[in-house]
Amino acid sequence: MKTQNLSLGYGERTVVGDLSLELPTGRITMIVGPNACGKSTFLRGLARLLPPLAGAVLLDGRALAETPSREIARKLGILPQGPIAPDGITVGDLVGRGRHPHQGLFRRWNAEDDAAVTQALEATGTLELTGRAVDELSGGQRQRVWIAMALAQRTKVLLLDEPTTYLDVSHQVEVLDLLTDLNQRDGTTIVAVLHDLNLACRYADHLIVMKNGAVVVAGEPGSVVTASLVEEVFGMPCRIVPDPVSRTPMIVPIGRHHVFEENQ
Ligand SMILES: Nc1ncnc2c1ncn2[C@@H]1O[C@H](COP(=O)(O)OP(=O)(O)OP(=O)(O)O)[C@@H](O)[C@H]1O
Ligand SMILES: [Mg+2]
Repeated sequence: MKTQNLSLGYGERTVVGDLSLELPTGRITMIVGPNACGKSTFLRGLARLLPPLAGAVLLDGRALAETPSREIARKLGILPQGPIAPDGITVGDLVGRGRHPHQGLFRRWNAEDDAAVTQALEATGTLELTGRAVDELSGGQRQRVWIAMALAQRTKVLLLDEPTTYLDVSHQVEVLDLLTDLNQRDGTTIVAVLHDLNLACRYADHLIVMKNGAVVVAGEPGSVVTASLVEEVFGMPCRIVPDPVSRTPMIVPIGRHHVFEENQ
C-alpha cells in the first residue's frame, strides 16, 4: 500500500501535508513521532476514515476513494486510538463484529467466523472474558479485546494506533510478538503507531519518523535512528546503544539528572 501526495486535515486545517510513502507489503512498519504530529490522522487517512484533502491512498494499486467500502473492509483492518465500544456489549459480541465485513446478504455466520473469533480471543488471552461486558474490564483487558477484534477481521493489512497503550510490559511484548507471528505466518502487512521507540526499533522492518505532519525519515531502524534524529524530532538529548537482546537501536534518554561519569 502507498500514498501519493496525500494531504489530510480537519476543516480548513491541513495536518498531514503531501505525503508520498510506501508501506511495504508483507512487512512491519512502525510510525513514531511526538504527540500531535499527525500519526493518528495519517493512520485514519490510510483506512479511509478520513477523506484526503488532496492526493490518494493506493491499496493493491487502486485508490481507496474508488474502491467499494466492503472490499476495503475485507482487505484492511484498523484499530483506532481510543476506540469506544457500544454500551453494554460483551467481549464475544464485540470481537464477532470484526467478522461483519465478511458477512453478506447470502452469507450468514458460519464455522469459519466462529474459528476466527475463538482464535483471536485465544491469541490475545481474552477467551475467559468472552461473556463479560467490555465496559467493565480493566484498561489493559479492554485493549487486548480490541486487538482481538482487529485480528478476527483476518485482513491482509492491519493498521493499529498505539496497540500497546494501557498494557503492562509483558503484555506489550506479547502483543508485538503476536503481530510478528501474524506477519510471519500469514504475510500480514502491519502498520502500527507506537510511542515506545525501543520496541518500535526492535519490531519494525520499516520505521517512519514523523514531525509536524511530515515524514522526517523512513527506513530500516538500524540505519535511520541516530541521537541527532531523536534530538531533532523529540527535542530530547539521548545516547543510542545496541539493544542487548536484539542489537537494534536502543534510545537512552539523558534528561537533566543521573549523570554517570564514565572511565572512573
Ligand atoms: N477530529 C479532529 N478535529 C480537529 N483537529 C483534530 C482532530 N483530530 C486531531 N486533530 C488535530 O490534528 C493534529 C494531529 O493530531 P493526531 O491525533 O493525528 O496526532 P498524533 O500524532 O496521533 O498524537 P498522539 O501521539 O497524541 O496520539 C493535532 O493538532 C490535533 O489537535
Ligand atoms: Mg494519536
